[in-house]
Amino acid sequence: MSQALQEASGTDSASIKAAAPSTPSPASLQSSGRAAPRCSVRGVTKSFGDTSILKGVDLAIPDGSFAVLVGPSGCGKSTLLRLVAGLEEADAGTITLAGKDVTRLPPRDRDVAMVFQSYALYPHLTVRGNLEFGLELRKTPRAEIDKRVAEAASMLGLEPLLGRLPKQLSGGQRQRVAMGRAIVRRPTIFLFDEPLSNLDAALRAEVRVEIRRLHDRLKATTLYVTHDQVEAMTLADTLWVLNNGLVEQKGPPLEVYERPRTTFVATFLGSPRMTMLDGVIVREKGCFYAEGGGVRALLDDDRFGDSLVEGRNVRIGIRPHDLGLAKNGAPSVAELKVEIVEALGSEAFAHGWLRASGPSVVARLDADEARSVRPGSAIRVAVAPSRMHLFDPKTGLALGL
Ligand SMILES: Nc1ncnc2c1ncn2[C@@H]1O[C@H](COP(=O)(O)OP(=O)(O)O)[C@@H](O)[C@H]1O
Ligand SMILES: [Mg+2]
Repeated sequence: MSQALQEASGTDSASIKAAAPSTPSPASLQSSGRAAPRCSVRGVTKSFGDTSILKGVDLAIPDGSFAVLVGPSGCGKSTLLRLVAGLEEADAGTITLAGKDVTRLPPRDRDVAMVFQSYALYPHLTVRGNLEFGLELRKTPRAEIDKRVAEAASMLGLEPLLGRLPKQLSGGQRQRVAMGRAIVRRPTIFLFDEPLSNLDAALRAEVRVEIRRLHDRLKATTLYVTHDQVEAMTLADTLWVLNNGLVEQKGPPLEVYERPRTTFVATFLGSPRMTMLDGVIVREKGCFYAEGGGVRALLDDDRFGDSLVEGRNVRIGIRPHDLGLAKNGAPSVAELKVEIVEALGSEAFAHGWLRASGPSVVARLDADEARSVRPGSAIRVAVAPSRMHLFDPKTGLALGL
């Protein structure tokens, strides 16, 4: 590994670009108005030894958009980001940035800035020094450096900290400096690799909002990878769900959440996760029902259309947030034998069984409702037909989209 590469992979976003010749204008800060994606990944594959990690990944990130690549730990998210940065080489496929094929270019010839989980700052440099470092290496004129640093510091609330050393900063402040270091670069694309995972939960939520706010101001094209579905849902303009080396679904986050195309996407997004039950479609008095695992739920013909065939085996999916107490007199879909009530303050989750032999099922209760539900009791639960999900048990594909 070359020194430049080592430095770059050693989390210094600035050095990725350090040795580059003159760079294009700060295009990420100005909308070019071009229709072509700012970053596109086509048919990219990558194996380590005999293990195939990426099996033909396609991504297209429009100018100014915030793309989040989400998937379980170990699915290849960092690998893909490193391919875009040029820290790894793709086995096949093409990567273009701002219309230029960069697939075989070294990191220094790609105009990217990366922010990592371990945002190693230069410990002997002040915040200002850390922000300036990459620009100085690239021989950016002093006045321009001062301008960009002032701008980034103001945007990130770093002004009072400019004279401090990293060890005099909190985790959240360090993370902001790492972001500042990327921002002053004004790259073609920002690459974020789980930048919040070292922060505690409260700070994570705070910095998450800051990142989104910053993006709304800068409109800088961003590819952000995380295994955290809450981060993914809240930050993304477009969500890309990676599983088994392929993008399994992409789309606006709420659309993906509400209409997951596979059982994997359905159970990966949402917490608590979607309950899955084996069942069959039955028909009674002209209406279709999904029946199985202790549930009998009315189905929406319009939604599921031709997939509603009497006797067809299905996987029934119900999100805990969509399963609640049946209102007085209203039909229920099941009786839940409550084992545990998790009270979260504003809401609660009742965990239990629909059948002694069935899987654990979770229903959502309002805080008030939760007060009257005791472990050991049975509650009647309901779900709106529009919130039901059905999947083919063999292919795992959603029915009726
Ligand atoms: N340089 C490498 N050599 C061998 N295996 C690697 C290397 N980098 C990553 N891997 C393997 O590739 C898989 C994907 O890794 P990674 O991209 O880091 O996943 P993620 O970021 O989604 O958690 C893992 O199984 C990991 O062990
Ligand atoms: Mg990773």
